[in-house]
Amino acid sequence: MNEQTLDLAGVGIGPFNLSLAAHLDAIPAVQARFFDQCERFDWHPGLMLPDAELQTSFLKDLVTATDPTSRWSFLSYLVAHKRFYKFLNAEFEATPRKEFAKYLEWTANGLSDLQFNARVKEVSFGRSAFTVRLDDQDYSSQHIALGIGHAPCLPTWASSLIGDNCFHSSQATQHLGAMSGERIVVIGGGQSGAEIVLNLLSKGQSPAKEIKWISRRQNFEPLDATPFTNELFTPEYVDRFRRLGEERRQSLLSHHKLASDGASASTLRAIYRRLYALRHLEGSDADVALLPHRDVIQADRQKDEFKLVMRNGFDGGIEIIFAKTIILATGYAFKIPDFLAPLKDRIALDRSGNFILGDDFSVKWDGPRQNHIFALNAGRHSYGIAEPQLSLMAWRSAVIVNALLRRRHFDLDMPPSIMRWATSGDGFSEAPGASIPIAG
Ligand SMILES: Cc1cc2nc3c(=O)[nH]c(=O)nc-3n(C[C@H](O)[C@H](O)[C@H](O)COP(=O)(O)OP(=O)(O)OC[C@H]3O[C@@H](n4cnc5c(N)ncnc54)[C@H](O)[C@@H]3O)c2cc1C
Ligand SMILES: NC(=O)c1ccc[n+]([C@@H]2O[C@H](COP(=O)([O-])OP(=O)(O)OC[C@H]3O[C@@H](n4cnc5c(N)ncnc54)[C@H](OP(=O)(O)O)[C@@H]3O)[C@@H](O)[C@H]2O)c1
Repeated sequence: MNEQTLDLAGVGIGPFNLSLAAHLDAIPAVQARFFDQCERFDWHPGLMLPDAELQTSFLKDLVTATDPTSRWSFLSYLVAHKRFYKFLNAEFEATPRKEFAKYLEWTANGLSDLQFNARVKEVSFGRSAFTVRLDDQDYSSQHIALGIGHAPCLPTWASSLIGDNCFHSSQATQHLGAMSGERIVVIGGGQSGAEIVLNLLSKGQSPAKEIKWISRRQNFEPLDATPFTNELFTPEYVDRFRRLGEERRQSLLSHHKLASDGASASTLRAIYRRLYALRHLEGSDADVALLPHRDVIQADRQKDEFKLVMRNGFDGGIEIIFAKTIILATGYAFKIPDFLAPLKDRIALDRSGNFILGDDFSVKWDGPRQNHIFALNAGRHSYGIAEPQLSLMAWRSAVIVNALLRRRHFDLDMPPSIMRWATSGDGFSEAPGASIPIAG
């Protein structure tokens, strides 16, 4: 079997490793190659519903925050496609997700170090390098960049029900078109659930007889994208967050949930308006019910339908409903991949079973210090709620490039933030000794 030697092997080509590849494109000294099991780049096609919008600014693209003259910026894409003026004239309040996906695909098609149809089935370590095993080829590499994204989260009761009539939101586009006149239950009050409900209520769809939208949250709560909340999506905040103890970080993450996982206010507004039109203007007989503060604790198949049992957090009651179709918009989570099995006993995990990650996004393991496993989108517990979002992807790529080159190729120093998150060390020297940092 032919074995090639690399400085960096990237596993997975989603936006995050793509951003790293785009940064490395201008640094020929680093021999990198990125692998993805899919046939081609396609950004979350299972939820690419018409009118879906980006939840972040297009300036938070693959490169602009750290390398604004790179040819792989969103603006560069617009110019290359001769639609710079048209894009501006369209005055989008939020960038269409389809447009951003086309930009990502254009970048993927333009970079030479990407290999699709290439599933990584094993990563092991020899004396001084990793071996990355594909189906038909091996690569030897000094470093690894894990960019495999997140896996769908399924409630435990759902595992035996999965099929054409009970599916995760990541497969929505495969199923939604074929559904009509059914009793549909959508579980999940985040952006995926909201987009699916809006789609089901849309004019072009055959109206379902009955639609129920369930959220475990107390209400259908909006994404908080206001300025001080957006400060959580800055390198300065990540730096402060990282230094906290594990328990304190966990507690902050639960408070920050709606800064990353709420539904966009525009989607919630569109759903409300659509419900108004159906009920008051169009005289529709569709039976639509919104069920906030419900935890679906059990479901089973009964003949040709499902019976769901929910706990109502508002008044403590137990409710039972029936559905022909269940759509599980129940989110995603990082899972340590099976292909790392040969390194399992060498990788350190924290008490919750997560990677222990360094300032440079490298995983703590017992191998030589000159061999890194960089993990992208695997450290919400470590870097905070910005980690799974596009917001800081360019910055994270630049941090990793600096670590690879072992020099400050990108100047990532920041002036002290106006937000004084920590007790000390934020660049303020007032009243030294007046406040004492509390551990943990
Ligand atoms: C529908 C949706 C919309 C989103 N929109 C936004 C948004 O507007 N703004 C925002 O900030 N965030 C958004 N996010 C969150 C986040 O930005 C995206 O999930 C983003 O795609 C994460 O990028 P990634 O590179 O980590 O993973 P992914 O995009 O999931 O890519 C991972 C890749 O790894 C490949 N892979 C996995 N295992 C292997 C293997 N063994 N061998 C080879 N390849 C492998 C997969 O095929 C996949 O292509 C969205 C998330 C979803 C689900
Ligand atoms: N267009 C876009 O930009 C776009 C589209 C889709 C997704 N996204 C992003 O992708 C990420 C994932 O979004 P997502 O909506 O897929 O997931 P999510 O934000 O994690 O939402 C999952 C929802 O499912 C609920 N849930 C889980 N199990 C449940 C149960 N048994 N009973 C009732 N409710 C249950 C959760 O409740 P709890 O909160 O109580 O756990 C939560 O409301 C987010 O960052 C989102 O912003 C972006």
